[in-house]
Amino acid sequence: MLKKRGVYLITGGLGGVGLTIAEYLASTVQARLVLVGREAAPPRSEWESPVDGARVDAASALDQLTRKEADIRRDVALSLMSSMHGLEQTLDRLCTAYALGFVERSGIDVDRPHVMDRRALEEACRILPGFDRLFSCLLRALEDGGVVRLNGAAVRFTGLRPSYDIHGMRQQAIASFPQLTALFELLDQSAGQFHLALTGEISALGLLFGDGNVDTFKRAVAAIRAHSWVPLCEALVRALLGALARARRPSGPLRILEVGGGDGLLTDALLPELQGKPVEYTFTDISRSFVASAERRAGDRGDRFMRFGVLDISSNPVEQGYDPGAFDVIVAFNVVHATKGVTTTLTNLHRLLAPGGVIVLQESVRSARWVDFIWGLTDGWWAFQDEALRMESPLLGLDAWGRVLRDAGFETVRAFPSDASHSIDTGLIVAIKSGTAEGTIVDKRSDDRSLVLAHRRSTLSRLEHLGGEVETIAADVADPVSMNAAMCVFPAATQSPSHRGTEVSVCFVPPLACLSRYA
Ligand SMILES: C[S@@+](CC[C@H](N)C(=O)[O-])C[C@H]1O[C@@H](n2cnc3c(N)ncnc32)[C@H](O)[C@@H]1O
Repeated sequence: MLKKRGVYLITGGLGGVGLTIAEYLASTVQARLVLVGREAAPPRSEWESPVDGARVDAASALDQLTRKEADIRRDVALSLMSSMHGLEQTLDRLCTAYALGFVERSGIDVDRPHVMDRRALEEACRILPGFDRLFSCLLRALEDGGVVRLNGAAVRFTGLRPSYDIHGMRQQAIASFPQLTALFELLDQSAGQFHLALTGEISALGLLFGDGNVDTFKRAVAAIRAHSWVPLCEALVRALLGALARARRPSGPLRILEVGGGDGLLTDALLPELQGKPVEYTFTDISRSFVASAERRAGDRGDRFMRFGVLDISSNPVEQGYDPGAFDVIVAFNVVHATKGVTTTLTNLHRLLAPGGVIVLQESVRSARWVDFIWGLTDGWWAFQDEALRMESPLLGLDAWGRVLRDAGFETVRAFPSDASHSIDTGLIVAIKSGTAEGTIVDKRSDDRSLVLAHRRSTLSRLEHLGGEVETIAADVADPVSMNAAMCVFPAATQSPSHRGTEVSVCFVPPLACLSRYA
């Protein structure tokens, strides 16, 4: 039975295990701690101000996830678009047909061989400035169909005009891939009206979302998800968060931040795993309306562990009222690629994580023409300005995500599925912010002495931050001479005004070398 504000003397109190016990006592009963160590503790003036470490041992959880990946994969029955024979060619041909329909509706004489300057062509088609990248996509689709040849700023119409029957092609596609009917409908809803949306005659977003009737959009998103790697990625994130929540330090709930939560597809996939666990889940998005509707849904469900806020991850989060180092885990599904500079965005997210915290990015990692034709109607798709990194598509491959995460200061980067092949459409990239997690056990024999000392300095100050009181004594419990000398100090420590007249509990922490004998 632990005593509130009891006095606890811990031998080996400055080692990794001793400090972990001390943290537990400080956080649970605000103990008055007497830490005995062979070495003198760093003077109080050197204790580092408490920047809390993450309440998780992310590295172990990540190792565990790697070991479990094959089992999780067996449990998730994937039915992949990439395995559907002829699908990619069907979609590419449809895109070329829509692109041809667009230029013809804009009055371009495709049957006549001629050369046009790219800018003049854009003007002739009345393309709004925000859609010039989507227009480049259309031109590449036309090039694939042999309608144009692209050479720098010159667009040469070849005079070849394939005859496409879009309606017939779509019917044929639906007959061949009925499980993706909604995708073909959404492509038609979007690309079939490019002549209105790219010229500003109608709202591009209104077109994508069905002008008030989001049914096609929602069904298509569900069909695409069901035939992608997303179910596996979600199962992996669930397993990781579950492990982190279970292995959390006792000093408080696992603090999860979701950024760009949007319609809550990832949130909905994760919440069942987190219900009833010691978790605080902060849902954010740049758009207030997404946040409000997530808050409404959580209210209807009676979720008490959720918090909500507006957060633009492409700007400094601290200036938006978020504390640096305030989260143990950050999760994001298809949002980081939608920002103008992924390295800047990841640097912002890095600030929000506690040292030792973990970032989990679920990202579309493979570009495809039909993907650009659908999502290219949104502003976010073309928002990227980091052209050294991204040129034609906002998406990055798994390897590139690893590189940018390291550039932003993360380490221990892992990508899933671990046997990534070119067919992977969505992947998971997990990385850890360097630093010591709260309560991490540091082996005193570690070669990295400075790490041990830094951990000691920050933990000593955290003990007081958690509500404990700390005295330190330098003595070797195995050495009677040194212990006798310490006894002269000990009464002073335990009989300080606040300790006087109380019982003292003693915790003996054997040196790790002794423990290893029994392992
Ligand atoms: C493709 S949606 C993904 C939605 C969501 N993650 C899901 O699972 O349903 C991208 C989301 O990112 C949000 N977003 C775009 N730019 C952002 C930014 N700079 N900061 C935060 N959120 C942003 C959008 O509002 C949108 O909700």
